[in-house]
Amino acid sequence: MNPAVRYGTPDDLEFITGLERDNLALPWSEEAVLDLLRYDPAGGDRVFKFALVAEGAGYVSVSGVIDEAEIGNIVVAPECRGRGYGRLLLEELENILAGRGIRKVFLEVESTNQRALSLYRSCGFAEYGVRNGYYGEGRDALLMSKELQIREQGGDQYRCDA
Ligand SMILES: CC(C)(COP(=O)(O)OP(=O)(O)OC[C@H]1O[C@@H](n2cnc3c(N)ncnc32)[C@H](O)[C@@H]1OP(=O)(O)O)[C@@H](O)C(=O)NCCC(=O)NCCS
Repeated sequence: MNPAVRYGTPDDLEFITGLERDNLALPWSEEAVLDLLRYDPAGGDRVFKFALVAEGAGYVSVSGVIDEAEIGNIVVAPECRGRGYGRLLLEELENILAGRGIRKVFLEVESTNQRALSLYRSCGFAEYGVRNGYYGEGRDALLMSKELQIREQGGDQYRCDA
């Protein structure tokens, strides 16, 4: 893993709930975030959820079942945006997921969220549908997915294409 990124632990609860509260219209509850932070990277469960943290800058969360995963949220603190943290978090996440046999990753993003859409598109995510009104009246979610090439854990060949 890139040394700038690590698995979230219960010590990150305040950092992550603060980012959620300050930057998202629908922040996760403290309990839901804590659930992500109890993950044991050595466990190898076929049903999992965890968060990756870029120290002081941002985090991304994911849940997965066997060979498919769904990105929950990705948030970078406003003062750290545009410095590559979002891309770094996504790259590292995909690297880990590919290493544990995940073949396909899904996410939802509000159709007006240009920054996030640019990030996801430039990392190879493609739209496959729309969920009308998902974020409230007149606020639609674009559904996106990306196929990963699975490989043995520990390799360094996977890159998120710019
Ligand atoms: C979306 C978000 C995570 C991006 O994080 P970031 O650290 O700023 O992103 P990066 O610096 O890694 O930039 C990656 C790509 O995002 C896009 N991007 C970044 N800043 C942008 C801007 N001001 N306008 C449009 N696209 C932008 C670009 O495609 C960029 O690629 P490039 O580096 O090749 O130009 C961040 O803006 C954020 O936290 N937003 C609020 C929370 C949110 O909406 N999360 C997503 C939905 S859950």
